[in-house]
Amino acid sequence: MNNKEIVAQAIFDVVKEDLSLETVTQLLENPKSVDHGDVAFPAFSLAKVYRKAPQQIAADLAEKIAGTAFEKIEVVGPYLNFFMNKEMVSQAVIGQIAKEKGNYGDSTVGAKGNVPIDMSSPNIAKPISMGHLRSTVIGNSIAFILEKIGYNPIRINHLGDWGTQFGKLIVAYKKWGTEEAVRTAPITELLRLYVQFHEVAETQPELEEEARAWFKKLEEGDAEATELWQWFRTESLKEFDKIYSMLEVTFDSYNGEAFYNDKMDEIVTMLEEKHLLQENQGAEIVDLTAYDLNPALIKKSDGATLYITRDLAAAVYRKRNYDFAKAIYVVGNEQSNHFKQLKAVLNELGFDWSKDMHHIPFGLITQGGKKLSTRKGKIVLLEEVLNEAVELANKQIMEKNPDLPDREEVAKQVGIGSVIFHDLKNDRLNNFDFVLEEVVRFEGETGPYVQYTHARAMSILRKADFVIDETKEYALNDKESWEVVKLLQKFPDVVMQAAEKYEPSVIAKHSIQVAQAFNKYYAHVKILTDDEQKESRLALVYAMATIIKEDLRLLGLHAPNEM
Ligand code: ARG
Repeated sequence: MNNKEIVAQAIFDVVKEDLSLETVTQLLENPKSVDHGDVAFPAFSLAKVYRKAPQQIAADLAEKIAGTAFEKIEVVGPYLNFFMNKEMVSQAVIGQIAKEKGNYGDSTVGAKGNVPIDMSSPNIAKPISMGHLRSTVIGNSIAFILEKIGYNPIRINHLGDWGTQFGKLIVAYKKWGTEEAVRTAPITELLRLYVQFHEVAETQPELEEEARAWFKKLEEGDAEATELWQWFRTESLKEFDKIYSMLEVTFDSYNGEAFYNDKMDEIVTMLEEKHLLQENQGAEIVDLTAYDLNPALIKKSDGATLYITRDLAAAVYRKRNYDFAKAIYVVGNEQSNHFKQLKAVLNELGFDWSKDMHHIPFGLITQGGKKLSTRKGKIVLLEEVLNEAVELANKQIMEKNPDLPDREEVAKQVGIGSVIFHDLKNDRLNNFDFVLEEVVRFEGETGPYVQYTHARAMSILRKADFVIDETKEYALNDKESWEVVKLLQKFPDVVMQAAEKYEPSVIAKHSIQVAQAFNKYYAHVKILTDDEQKESRLALVYAMATIIKEDLRLLGLHAPNEM
């Protein structure tokens, strides 16, 4: 039980006749300052029932509420301030963490339901962008969080590996490309060819026609077109995989847009049967005026399918294949309308499960307040950013702890981790500026700071030769430890909140708070002094390290034992 639940129950036992447990719970407040206790109850709402001044009611209640759960109950005007029994709470919390370890906060609300998470999903033959990075790390963290509350996440990389651009690429490659150039630097070369195509097509519009013809061949399974496309895809994926292995993100499926090539006819037929398709200048559309949305373009006038056509097929496929409890799409905010249209068309088709589909949007990563662009030359190469982060981390570790045994591995965990953490620590819809030096700092609200706090705790435990014993009772009653205890106690609620909002930042913020509270504790209390509380203090250090490590795991970061 959390503190609010304990207080609510205690009040309810006294006012049973007049208020429901739910009402009491809703009325409870978090006092602004620790001097006002841990939970507060305003007595105003009982004034009418009891026909007495709220002050009097508060005083009466305080006398009637019994039990050992509270150190004291203070009456301040119409307010009842509850001070929890620190010894009882800390004993329960530390004891539970000692038993459950990283499983503290697990729940079964997900009932093993499948949740396909559409994440990362870069486009073949183009550099993976900062936006795709965000989708990757946010999706990965949401997967861990949902798994913790009992869902079965399925990480899907819906690769952009289909569409008219592949016709253009084939044309450009056949005209100006060489096998060797593509092999040496696939994405750079393919991007160059793509850019060249557009430049030349400005004066030679017939190229567009050629490109359309090649894409048509590809759609129809022509051998040469398929072989080239397959090759572009394989080479691009090799480069993407470098990033994924640095981030330590794995996927359960790489079924991208091409996978749905043979699954779209069925969708078009369904739309026809329900009389949802309309002709518009030769193209086929679904009118979505009723949803206050632009029409969904299903087929172009030349018969080519579109992004949304493939997403329709993908949604139906995922429902059939995974029978999902919910389906999540972690894709930038700029595609909001696309996902609204997608859900609307599925709803028109009578699929009531479309209500279980959620677009999880996020904001932009900017530089100097400006949007990063992949256009000519201005590509920010993710691999470089990650490598630089590792180097910066390495430099700082060299200064702090030059003899660290596996320094290179730790530098990787800290450097890459810092980029992930920075991405996840703010509400996902916020835009944020990326300044590498800030990201990798060991102080402030950064990943390295949280990791460093964990390592410091581990070093204290090592020094003390402390091993947690789950059969022992550890309890603390000082106000310094109380701040840490409360944050640990809150962890299961924090996980639930993060899951409900699909918001990893809730976890990241918790990890920062725990780290800050712990560092304050460490500064004020001599943990290793030999007295009768020493074991309990060490148990608290152990519990804190366990939860910080779990916070970090849910975000996709390691917690090195030394750094
Ligand atoms: N490839 C797309 C892009 O880079 C993102 C795909 C997102 N997923 C989806 N099912 N539409 O913009």
